[in-house]
Amino acid sequence: MSKTYRIAVIPGDGTGPEVVEQALRVVAACQEPFGFRVETEHYPFGGDRYLETGEVLPDSAVEELRSAHAILLGAIGHPDVKPGILEQGILLKLRFALDQYVNLRPVKLYPGVYTPIKDKGPDEIDFVVVRENTEGLYVGSGGFLRKGTPDEVAVQESVNTRKGVERCLRFAYEYCQRRNKRKKLTLVGKTNVLTYAFDLWERAFNELGAAYPDVERDYAHVDATCMWMVKNPEWFDVLVTDNMFGDIITDLGAMIQGGMGIAAGGNINPEGVSMFEPIGGSAPKYTGKNVINPLAAICAAAMMLEHLGEHEAGARIERAVQWVTGSKLQSLAAGRMGYSTSEVGDLVLAHLAGEVGEG
Ligand code: IPM
Ligand code: MN
Repeated sequence: MSKTYRIAVIPGDGTGPEVVEQALRVVAACQEPFGFRVETEHYPFGGDRYLETGEVLPDSAVEELRSAHAILLGAIGHPDVKPGILEQGILLKLRFALDQYVNLRPVKLYPGVYTPIKDKGPDEIDFVVVRENTEGLYVGSGGFLRKGTPDEVAVQESVNTRKGVERCLRFAYEYCQRRNKRKKLTLVGKTNVLTYAFDLWERAFNELGAAYPDVERDYAHVDATCMWMVKNPEWFDVLVTDNMFGDIITDLGAMIQGGMGIAAGGNINPEGVSMFEPIGGSAPKYTGKNVINPLAAICAAAMMLEHLGEHEAGARIERAVQWVTGSKLQSLAAGRMGYSTSEVGDLVLAHLAGEVGEG
């Protein structure tokens, strides 16, 4: 009997459904060659559902999602819904409720992809950001004083627990070992200004590091990291940082690797249910036009299979994506690929089936 994975699918808003459809075609095509089965269940949560019914994400759905083997998410965010409602009510709610405490975001240049830092190639741009995903400025701690008056004060606190920081760091050390490339882990912080939060991070980083003598330890301030990500990306292997800095540097990372069309991420709970997503958002202006690039969603699906232990299938999809970027697409940008959304899906499938490329 082959293994069966129950995958919960949240296509979400905007171009989410279109790109997820292509990713699911690719996943389905892996079933037979790699000897596993996938059962999908769709959850239609997002802006349209909210506007129709007022429902964002009921707790009962969270409970159902908890029993899936993994979740594949398209995009969250709707132009007619006030910013924050869907982001907090769906994306952050799931990350927190399912305790997906790591946000894993590879930054990798695929062949043939135009990057603004033109002299660097796929060998130089290949690093992974481990972003803490359930704490920091994202916990919603703080409040207003004298709101709406000229003396108004708004406080937003960054919460860093020793346990939360340690489990994220441990994941990063182990991931760096498994990845087995430069074996260098860079803590990204701001120890010169955020003298409480990153003091805790730095102490935990060094104390835990003793147990991973083969991993080289490195530290960089977040602002300098932004500079080096562009100037010397080859210095990086695995970076680990808090929630807010991780959010910011992974948008920079996405641009370095060619844009949102290719940037994928995983919200990981190593002991529970993880959720994989293209990190680009819902792109309302491209919705329904069959022009959005599905490769980020397909790479997210590859990360999902990798996470489920289907290493060969994940690697195979990765090679198909490398062939598509290296030999087919004119650009990764929506509308300028030289192919439609579904044709890009077709190309990946043709390569998986061994019909094109070197297979
Ligand atoms: C991301 C997004 C989210 C975040 C938003 C939509 C809440 O920017 O996944 O990086 O800030 O984490
Ligand atoms: Mn972000």
